[in-house]
Amino acid sequence: NPKAFIFDLDGVITDTAEFHYQAWKQLAEELGIHIDREFNEQLKGISRMDSLDRILALDSSYQSLAAEEKEGLATKKNEHYKQLMQAITPEHILPGIKDFLDTIKSNKIEIALASASKNAPMILEQLQLSDYFRYIVDPAKLSNGKPDPEIFTTAADFLSVDYSECIGVEDAASGVQAINAASMFSVGVGDKEVLAAADMVVEDTTGLDFNKIIEAFRQARN
Ligand code: BG6
Ligand code: MG
Repeated sequence: NPKAFIFDLDGVITDTAEFHYQAWKQLAEELGIHIDREFNEQLKGISRMDSLDRILALDSSYQSLAAEEKEGLATKKNEHYKQLMQAITPEHILPGIKDFLDTIKSNKIEIALASASKNAPMILEQLQLSDYFRYIVDPAKLSNGKPDPEIFTTAADFLSVDYSECIGVEDAASGVQAINAASMFSVGVGDKEVLAAADMVVEDTTGLDFNKIIEAFRQARN
């Protein structure tokens, strides 16, 4: 069996990927920049500042913003996001996730969180899921965000588990890339084409079947 499951948060455990999109769209509109869902795929998994940079790159009039101005815009987005976040309750845990976590736990496999979000600990609290997680990586302490493997290897190092014995679960292409680069087994949740690089893809969280994933993991390790 694997020794650890390392989860992404936004879009895997709860549908905050949608809230991030709404908050960015609101900020972008205030700046006169148009973004759509297709563009948003690029923003999934990457940090707040990297996301802002990608949005500002769409409009030539924002190319020479000072660092403080960018900080201000990033903070503004986070204010929009926190507003949306207030509504999060345990009812917002995506279908199947609670059972999946329970099954992992009862099989004595470690669980950690590898989210790029600085809001992640707060969201886990609101969902009342914090107790499942042995470790939550602090993204502020990383040198490189996804698709760099650092966030996943940091979790495995804390748990003292070999990377090859970890399974990462992600909804973002950048996240799947990070898991693969860490030599872990990757499970993608979402669109098959977007997540084509994953070792295994399920359409949504109801597809996270513990036995099927373990089976695929074992086959990949043989
Ligand atoms: C990731 C999301 O989990 O966290 C991104 O997929 C988000 O969309 C990033 O930008 C950073 O989140 P936060 O909460 O620190 O702004
Ligand atoms: Mg995500």
